[in-house]
Amino acid sequence: MKRIFSGVKPTGHLTLGNYLGAVRRWVDVDQHRAEALFCIVDLHALTVEHDPARVRRLSRQAATLLLAAGLEPEHCTLFVQSHVDEHARLSYLLECTATDGEMRRMIQYREKSARERARGGSVRLSLLTYPVLMAADILAYGTEEVPVGDDQAQHVELTRDLAVRFNQRYGHTFTVPKATHPAVAARVRDLQDPASKMGKSGDAGGGVVFLLDEPEVVRRKVMRAVTDSGHDVVYDRAERPGLANLLDVLAACRGAGSDPAVLAGEYSSYGDLKREVADGVVELLRPLRKRHAELVADPGYVDGVLREGAARARELARPLVDRAYRAVGLMPPV
Ligand code: TYM
Repeated sequence: MKRIFSGVKPTGHLTLGNYLGAVRRWVDVDQHRAEALFCIVDLHALTVEHDPARVRRLSRQAATLLLAAGLEPEHCTLFVQSHVDEHARLSYLLECTATDGEMRRMIQYREKSARERARGGSVRLSLLTYPVLMAADILAYGTEEVPVGDDQAQHVELTRDLAVRFNQRYGHTFTVPKATHPAVAARVRDLQDPASKMGKSGDAGGGVVFLLDEPEVVRRKVMRAVTDSGHDVVYDRAERPGLANLLDVLAACRGAGSDPAVLAGEYSSYGDLKREVADGVVELLRPLRKRHAELVADPGYVDGVLREGAARARELARPLVDRAYRAVGLMPPV
């Protein structure tokens, strides 16, 4: 059976971007067509300055939200990265496969490290090696497909390169995975700054819709979204990115087959379009918020899912990572 792996990083509250770019497909499609593993990648949250209690809280919240969104433990494996040692074990072997030059070329590293340095802060070494840990997450499971938003494409490309290089050097060990992206909303933009992606840590601005935002908050954020000059509603990503973003979100809310360029023709004013987007997002998130409230009241259930998920993940990853350890020349335990 095909193997699918993907993950979400508990560095902030999950956003509409996470949902439309990744989580919704995990729920609607991926968990039903493959052996699918979904991971709260908490080790990745330590690559930037972090508050331990917050990471712990956000990890639990992310797991609860993924279940609320519709991941079903009968159909997929949901677990926390740090509960399965194989990720860190394999990451080291892949550090011995990657080069520092290719790490320094990663766009997210360049952007995040530049931002950190500009603030006078220091950059953790793990921010540089982050994509190697991500490659380990993926390769440890013999993953074929990695459903992600656009922003992760370069990391999955690197994962492919590392798998091929490792296999060439040490004999076939890893499946070479590929990224899959949604047809629309693969990169949801910040509503206040359409040049940037809508990200968890953009929480200072009003341009990020969080999955747990109250309906009135969602409406306010959407109605205040920055739009471009002009009055007609047309779909033009280069010239009218703010408008194109709203049309992408609306098309994603409407579901499969909905085309943002066609939707543009249905609206004659920005105000009408924004109202429709706000309604669409509020309705999309309503069942998720309701189910989340129910699950919060039942933490034992969430713990049980994560416990079983980690056991299953360990079972899958262990033999493959052991094989990689042997392949590179490490002596088996005696
Ligand atoms: P993270 O936590 O930033 O995002 C989780 C998923 O949501 C997608 N996404 C978006 N999609 C569309 N528009 C947006 N504005 C938007 N923001 C986020 C991301 O592409 C991702 O699919 N490095 C990863 C986590 C990770 C991972 C992995 C993913 C670690 N190991 C292995 C897949 C496989 C990350 O930071 O995702």
